[in-house]
Amino acid sequence: MTYKHIKTLDTSQDFILPCRKDQLGAIKEFLPVDQPDFDGSFSTYLLLYGKDGNRIYLVGLGEEKHSVQLENTFHKLAFETQKNWDKSIQVYAEDLSDDEIKKAVIGLEIAQYSIGEFKSKKEKQNKTTVSFSSPKTIKKIVDEGKYTGETINKIKALVDAPPNIKTPEFLGKWAVKSAKNNDYKCTVLKQKQLEKQGFDAVLSVGKGSVNKPVVIITEYKPKTTDRVDITLVGKGITFDSGGLSIKPSTNLHYMKSDMGGAAVVLGVVELVAKLKLKINIVGIVCSAENAVDAESYRPGDVINSYSGKTIEIIDTDAEGRLVLADGLSYAVKKIKPEYLIDLATLTGSVVRTLGYHAAGMFTDNEAMAGTMSDIGYKVHERVWQLPMFEDYESDLHSDIADIRNFSGNPLAGATNAAKFLEAFTEDHKNWMHLDIAGVSFGASPYAKMKSASGYGIQLITEFIKSKASK
Ligand code: BES
Ligand code: ZN
Ligand code: ZN
Repeated sequence: MTYKHIKTLDTSQDFILPCRKDQLGAIKEFLPVDQPDFDGSFSTYLLLYGKDGNRIYLVGLGEEKHSVQLENTFHKLAFETQKNWDKSIQVYAEDLSDDEIKKAVIGLEIAQYSIGEFKSKKEKQNKTTVSFSSPKTIKKIVDEGKYTGETINKIKALVDAPPNIKTPEFLGKWAVKSAKNNDYKCTVLKQKQLEKQGFDAVLSVGKGSVNKPVVIITEYKPKTTDRVDITLVGKGITFDSGGLSIKPSTNLHYMKSDMGGAAVVLGVVELVAKLKLKINIVGIVCSAENAVDAESYRPGDVINSYSGKTIEIIDTDAEGRLVLADGLSYAVKKIKPEYLIDLATLTGSVVRTLGYHAAGMFTDNEAMAGTMSDIGYKVHERVWQLPMFEDYESDLHSDIADIRNFSGNPLAGATNAAKFLEAFTEDHKNWMHLDIAGVSFGASPYAKMKSASGYGIQLITEFIKSKASK
């Protein structure tokens, strides 16, 4: 899509007319009829025809509380009606705030996502120009919305991609290309380097697959200082069979999405570079395939890790915490960032706790929790804090190694995973873990099977923005 700014609406052409709940009066000058069957309810729309035969899409913004989800309205409208849009369409944006304009653009942009990338017949791309009518300049906000929407589409494509194609090496290549196109640095550590540097936990998880593990390190550092403000660490399991602690086969195909955390990290670094934010960030992706093979690591094994701590493996399906342990240790030892955030589709437990509407948030830093929580509400990618009490530590006791990767009990699974990760953060004071297993992939009105949601891009980008220099 292309976006333009216009001063006033040409009412003889097609346009989208946003309307707040029960506020038809405010836009009556544009209505071709006195009383359309429409009350502005959230995410509803009505097509009317103007006297020039032009289309007028009345779009419901709903109540004040719905404004955080405005992109859904535009997503739905575009998804259902854009086939009838001509080369151009206008949006009456004079009563929309900057935030609302941005969300409208994101909604229009994510409606362009094509999930059928692997079909032999490609869908054709929409080439509409969308003109926003507004008295103020809106270029910056529109660009921001467009870049954000494009990034969301790119990471959805990664998460929805089949696991035979998006191997760890494929993720590495994706990052190298993005770094080149957007002017940041990327290093992909492969088998030899991982062995040399001691990423033993990543290597153990990846042992059973012919698709060898990688650790991807991306760096965007526009500031004059080398100090890193924020480091993101993402779980990049390109397929989680469970390993020898194999998962049941029902819905196993969805375990291609076990790299949702990695996708957020890759996407956010690209977006922050595109937006040219003044902040130094490093993105770390720990990627492996958890496969079943004669060479797979086993329950009962004791493995080493980047930190030097030994880990007793109780369940090979608790693999995400292992690869993240190495990523977090690397971050605290080598990068030493001010803020450290990891994202992972880590546990089924968080899905049972919070369902599909919020990510589990784990941190001892209440200020950081508050900021993340506020941002989550505003971008409608919500988080909910879960406990990190010391009492849970005993679950991770191993008699024969420094720590074990699972208690063996199906209790407090999301917290236990978070406590395991904590053991590899050297008590970093600004560390946060986000368990996105319930929110990163799921049902959507735009696909028949479960698919990627794009969750996390706006949440983390806005958090980074809140810490960037003006
Ligand atoms: N990738 C899964 C978690 C998951 C479950 C993600 C559902 C998305 C949807 C993770 O590696 C896993 O298998 N976790 C186990 C841990 C257990 C063996 C300690 C779980 O949550 O059951
Ligand atoms: Zn697993
Ligand atoms: Zn997993």
